This record gives sequence, structure tokens and C-alpha cells, in this order.
Amino acid sequence: MAFELPKLSYAYDALEPHIDARTMEIHHSKHHNGYTNNLNNAIAGTDLEGKSIEDILTGLDLNNGAVRNNGGGFYNHSLFWNVMNPEGKGRLSGELKDAIEAAYGDFEGFKDAFSKAAATRFGSGWAWLCVHKGGKVEICSTANQDNPLMPGITCGGTPILALDVWEHAYYLNYQNRRPDYINAFFNVINWNYVEKLYAENK
Ligand SMILES: [Fe+2]
Repeated sequence: MAFELPKLSYAYDALEPHIDARTMEIHHSKHHNGYTNNLNNAIAGTDLEGKSIEDILTGLDLNNGAVRNNGGGFYNHSLFWNVMNPEGKGRLSGELKDAIEAAYGDFEGFKDAFSKAAATRFGSGWAWLCVHKGGKVEICSTANQDNPLMPGITCGGTPILALDVWEHAYYLNYQNRRPDYINAFFNVINWNYVEKLYAENK
């Protein structure tokens, strides 16, 4: 089975005014669709065909640029759509709240650290909140479409929150104001989903 572009669980305009409909439409139907098709082309006829995306990324040969870029692009965007929701969803609570407070003091400390990771990623990339086995959480960032699941990436654990800081994610609405886009992202985080990922992967 080839990989398929996942459907969004909300409309393209559902995240406005924080993330505009035109950006969402192009980002999903063009960019994410492109990564999906290119990933399928890159693995067709190889021993990667038929594997899960997680298995492909955790076993990745970083020299395989086509799978690194497009497999990362496929996975990263699939997670990104799911960690957002109109008006956000739920509030940070429970075990994840405890883990975040243990690592960053309080929610504001976490928000500052995550925002800094996203703002200071030079060029294109992603900011992540990851969980390690045992429950510790860690913020990090990666370049391009790299992902914490890939071996040899200096950012580890299982990603449970993702923010795309490629210009294609914000330029139409925010131009060069990446910090404004990062701030807006905090209004649409689906904490219920992030907590579910935390519980499944801690
Ligand atoms: Fe993107």
C-alpha cells in the first residue's frame, strides 16, 4: 500500500485567524501532497515498500536523501495537522503537565523554550517536544524535514508536538514575522492529542 495524503479533521479555514485558509490549503494539498508522492516514488520497488513510516524513519540511512526529505516531510506534516485544532482543544493537564513543569518550571517557561527553539532554527525546519522512555520531555529542533525518530539526529525521543517553521508554513500571512506565527500556534494546539501521544510513548 502506498502512503496516502491524510485528510484533515477540520476545514482549511478552521484555524483562522491564527493560520489562514490559503496557507493551509497550499501547505496540505501541494506541499504535503508532494512529499507523499515523492516518498512513494522513492521507496517503490525497494525493501522499504510496505514498511510503516515509523519503521522507515527509525531505520533510515541518512545518505538516502529522497527518503530522508520526503519520508520526514510525510511524517512531520501528518503529525503537525493532528496537534492543531480550532480554538485549541483541552488544556495542558495531568501527567504531561507534570512532566513539562519538571523540565521547564511552568507553562510559560515551556512556551518560552519552545518558542525560542522554533525562532532560532536557521532557515527551514521544525521545533519539537519529544518524550523519552520514562516520561521525561525535551524540546529540540531539526533542520529541513529531519525528524527525532531518525538515527543520528541530535534531537531524540518520540515527537508529541511539532511546529513547522518553513516559510511555506507562514509567509503568506506573516511574511518574515516568524515569532508572530509561533505565538499564534499556541492558540490552536490540540492538547488532548498531545497528551494522548505522551501517554502512548512515555
Ligand atoms: Fe511544511
